[in-house]
Amino acid sequence: MRFGLFLFTVLASLAPLTAHSTPSSRPAPARAIEAEIEAKVSALLGQMTLEEKIGQLNFPSYAFPREPQIEAVKKGRIGAVLNVAHPDHVRLFEEAAQASRLKIPMLYAIDSIYSFHVAFPTPIAWAATWRPELAERAAEAIARETAQVGVNLTFAPMIDISRDPRWGRVIEGAGEDPYLASAFSAARVRGYHKGGLATSAKHFVGYGAPEGGRDYNGAQISMAELFDRYIPPFQAAVEAGTETVMASFNTVNGVPVTANRLLITDVLKGRLGFEGLVMSDFAAIKELVNHGVAGDLSEAAAKAIRAGIDLDMEGKAYDTHLAENVQAGRVPMADIDAAVRRVLRVKYRMGLFPDSPGGVRKVPPPIAEAAVRKTARSVARESFVLLKNNGATLPITPQSGTVALIGAAALSTNDHSWYGPAGLEKPVTESLRDALQARIGNPQKLLFAEAFADPCGQAFADKDKAVETAKSADLIVLVLAEDCAVSGEGASRADLRLSGVHTEMLDALAKVGKPIALVLETGRPLTLTAASEKVAALLVAWHPGTEGRTALAEVLTGEFAPSGKLPMTFPRSVGQVPISYNDLPTSRPSTGDRFTTGYVDEKPTPLYPFGHGLSYTTFRYSGLKISAPEMGRDGQVEIRVDVQNTGSRGGQEVVQLYTRQLVASRSRPLRELKGFKKVGLAPGEKETVRFTLKASDLVYHDDQGKPVIEPGRFKVFVGGSSTAELEGAFQISGP
Ligand code: NOJ
Repeated sequence: MRFGLFLFTVLASLAPLTAHSTPSSRPAPARAIEAEIEAKVSALLGQMTLEEKIGQLNFPSYAFPREPQIEAVKKGRIGAVLNVAHPDHVRLFEEAAQASRLKIPMLYAIDSIYSFHVAFPTPIAWAATWRPELAERAAEAIARETAQVGVNLTFAPMIDISRDPRWGRVIEGAGEDPYLASAFSAARVRGYHKGGLATSAKHFVGYGAPEGGRDYNGAQISMAELFDRYIPPFQAAVEAGTETVMASFNTVNGVPVTANRLLITDVLKGRLGFEGLVMSDFAAIKELVNHGVAGDLSEAAAKAIRAGIDLDMEGKAYDTHLAENVQAGRVPMADIDAAVRRVLRVKYRMGLFPDSPGGVRKVPPPIAEAAVRKTARSVARESFVLLKNNGATLPITPQSGTVALIGAAALSTNDHSWYGPAGLEKPVTESLRDALQARIGNPQKLLFAEAFADPCGQAFADKDKAVETAKSADLIVLVLAEDCAVSGEGASRADLRLSGVHTEMLDALAKVGKPIALVLETGRPLTLTAASEKVAALLVAWHPGTEGRTALAEVLTGEFAPSGKLPMTFPRSVGQVPISYNDLPTSRPSTGDRFTTGYVDEKPTPLYPFGHGLSYTTFRYSGLKISAPEMGRDGQVEIRVDVQNTGSRGGQEVVQLYTRQLVASRSRPLRELKGFKKVGLAPGEKETVRFTLKASDLVYHDDQGKPVIEPGRFKVFVGGSSTAELEGAFQISGP
């Protein structure tokens, strides 16, 4: 048996986001390289025909038969291709590009987001680790696997803030909080870069806020909120050097982003200083017709290029209609040149040309599967969130007695999430049953019943047998995997409860009267109000990937303590959505009285708040100190707090810092995350955790999106979740 082994680490602090590096703030050598690149781009542009220029903006999906595309590349009519994932196929395209008149290299892009060969947990799980450095390592490993086949660009990171778990794509993001998501955005960009891929930060912007949580629906977002909440992760990606940004499908304030000059040209390229290329999402230019802002494909092409969309992903609009728009004077040549300049700039910056001034792109060496799996396991281990653990039900120890493991997902060797590049060979995965058996040792101590006919529990196999098995055990571990097809793109949900079959099984097991530890594999927050009342312990495992079930067994048996924290609020019921810790105050804070904010048929609070997550030990916070009672608009304070492990096991805790501006010109959120650090503490150990808070970290935006640092009083809250109770205060002084 391997009970009791415990590892913990003291973790490095999260580096603050750097200020945007404007061209003039860059070091002289970088500026010299950039000047050289611009000169080369100008020279190349000067040699290009209109047809060749438009070719650089044409970005189709790899199609069969491929000969027409290969021929088009030879004529300089395609500059990038997506979904090509085999080295031989990439080679065919590159040979064709080299056979073209100007020999401009191509972009090869793919959705290598959280897996190429080895599946990592899904990105929402990365965020649940609250360790951006783990995300960086994960992204690097995935990129290294991907880069070997010749792909040079990934459609990642997806960094859409979402406060709506009905939206299926929350699985791909970093949750609801701009500060946490920004840290993960930058880390992921750095990681993919280290692994040899250029990145595409997506989907700019507001895609995660569709009305009703329905994918592709429009969003209404004020300028202030765009800048406060939705833009920060994109700004972080730009500062980390993302080469490309993908525009979102939806409308924001009534204008599709694909045709939105304000957002793409003025905000992204202007305000954020983004110098790379902006691509449409898949067929999004064509879909401007469906949005009702273009009468036909030709008008759609004109609107998109005028808005600042440089690359047409699979819209077939630029290839077929840009030239006629230029000839008719509807699109100025300067717009085409500006777009081509950005595409060529990116290709030079990536080192794709043999004479790239910054050096030729080097693909990092292949990475052994074992090494990738190791990283995948460390991400999985730290991503599980223990929402509830009454009476120390978990971990499973020899004292737990006989365990009944229930649920077909425990036999599964598949990740139940959207997996990544299609058709690639998947690695062998240990099932949870095998991984638990290996740790529990004695086969008599681990009973098993499938209960469901499929891993996602869409139908029963044998409910009664599961109940009988549970009766012979002392502890029931029920594994429920959210219905496989209900997360990801186009998978919005109107109901966030467990499925009927899952609920029936849980109800039947609850009647057995033994403690239940519920392990939930899900891509999004669910409404678990009824379920959580029936279980003693509740562990959210997300979709944990190739190494996930082994990691799960490690955590369930206490080899590692859970240390994940929620990156997204778990509501009590779907009617509460959207609900978040950083909501604005109301005129009538909830008191339980009818005429205060809330519901007549639901509590005003969520079931599990943002930042929540337990360990197998407990932590005490004390001694909050703020270095000065006051700071100027350019000042900073140091905030210190003592954190002690008060239990008998080692564990990691995510120490979270929140602020609230009490009085300002606009209502400011009830709390805002401004810092976090994950620390590992042995039993009894105490550590002083320090945060530096600058006045500039307290910026918010006015109606025009202009940044404001407003003098006034701020509260500080420090603790292990967004409901942290330890508080202090300071003042920003000034007129
Ligand atoms: C559509 C998705 O919205 C986007 O995220 C993805 O990268 C593209 N399809 C390409 O597959």
